[in-house]
Amino acid sequence: MLHPLIAPHAPWLAPLAGFSDLPFRLLCRELGAAVAVTEMVSAKGLLYDSRNTRRLLDTCPADSPLVVQLFSSEPDCLYRAAVALAGDGFTYFDLNCGCSVRKVIKTGAGAALLDDPDWLVGCAAAMVRALGPGRVGVKLRLGPRPPARVDLDLAPRLADAGVSWLTLHPRHASQGFSGTANHDALAAFVAASPLPVLASGDLMAAEDGRRVLAHTGAAGVMYARGALADPRIFARHAALLPQTPETPGPALPPVCEVIRRHAALCREYADDRQALLRMRTAVPRYLRDLPGCRALRDRLCRVESWDELAHIVDEAEALGTAPLQAPGETA
Ligand SMILES: Cc1cc2nc3c(=O)[nH]c(=O)nc-3n(C[C@H](O)[C@H](O)[C@H](O)COP(=O)(O)O)c2cc1C
Repeated sequence: MLHPLIAPHAPWLAPLAGFSDLPFRLLCRELGAAVAVTEMVSAKGLLYDSRNTRRLLDTCPADSPLVVQLFSSEPDCLYRAAVALAGDGFTYFDLNCGCSVRKVIKTGAGAALLDDPDWLVGCAAAMVRALGPGRVGVKLRLGPRPPARVDLDLAPRLADAGVSWLTLHPRHASQGFSGTANHDALAAFVAASPLPVLASGDLMAAEDGRRVLAHTGAAGVMYARGALADPRIFARHAALLPQTPETPGPALPPVCEVIRRHAALCREYADDRQALLRMRTAVPRYLRDLPGCRALRDRLCRVESWDELAHIVDEAEALGTAPLQAPGETA
């Protein structure tokens, strides 16, 4: 059952197209993510058995509990993809109703579903028909474009359709990532929802997560860009819980240790070249606050081998600097 993990103490790793692959999910789990969501996966691509789509579903026993996020505007496609994936052993699913990338919305999928709530509910209901109760969530934005907002009765309607949890990123789809997440609107949505709601949006540090939980009454939080910047956000989230002397909070590993672990997981679980290219963008982000490492970051963006990466990480470590710091944290 996923429900005990839709809770304040159980932060989720958000779906992150191009980033929440198996190695990154495993890394975040080791650092305290309670649940992880795959990158969005095309239901149609799965039915055509596209190799590239299938690769997004690479998983392993430690990668659990896992939520597979699907996108499509066709209930029949979603139904058939869900049946096939359930047959392959996947348990939990999410319907993407928030992606505003042109390629997706021009097919009527992602955030385009927000324009037609009846159709959106029909898509979610098709997934529930395929999977049964307790297994389907829906991830929403505030609305397609201002001032249109998802009606507050959408949550009850999705509950009636058999959906089990919701996630809201409270920006309009047309905003992309501009402006700020409207956490007051999230609070109103939470108040009207019979389903547990996960909060998303502008949760760049664990302190943001704890603040938004308190402000909105959301059941839990989902870290996205905050996890990309520093996956130790999950450990920090736990560290902000009231501690007793018998249960000290988890220790935060130094950033270079996190990088080495991410690299090791990539080498174990991912296509070698592809994974190295991903490290070119991930590692400079992890080191962004390290004083004096600009030249190292430039080299990282062009890194050509795992050995070279290891040398650069050794050099970063030798800079003798403190681990990344959350806002407000002192060295
Ligand atoms: C690089 C990137 C990829 C994303 N991919 C997805 C996706 O595949 N599916 C989805 O529902 N949301 C996706 N999102 C949205 C995030 O899951 C999250 O809702 C959003 O970033 C707001 O949270 P944040 O402001 O704390 O980053 C993506 C966001 C980013 C930055």
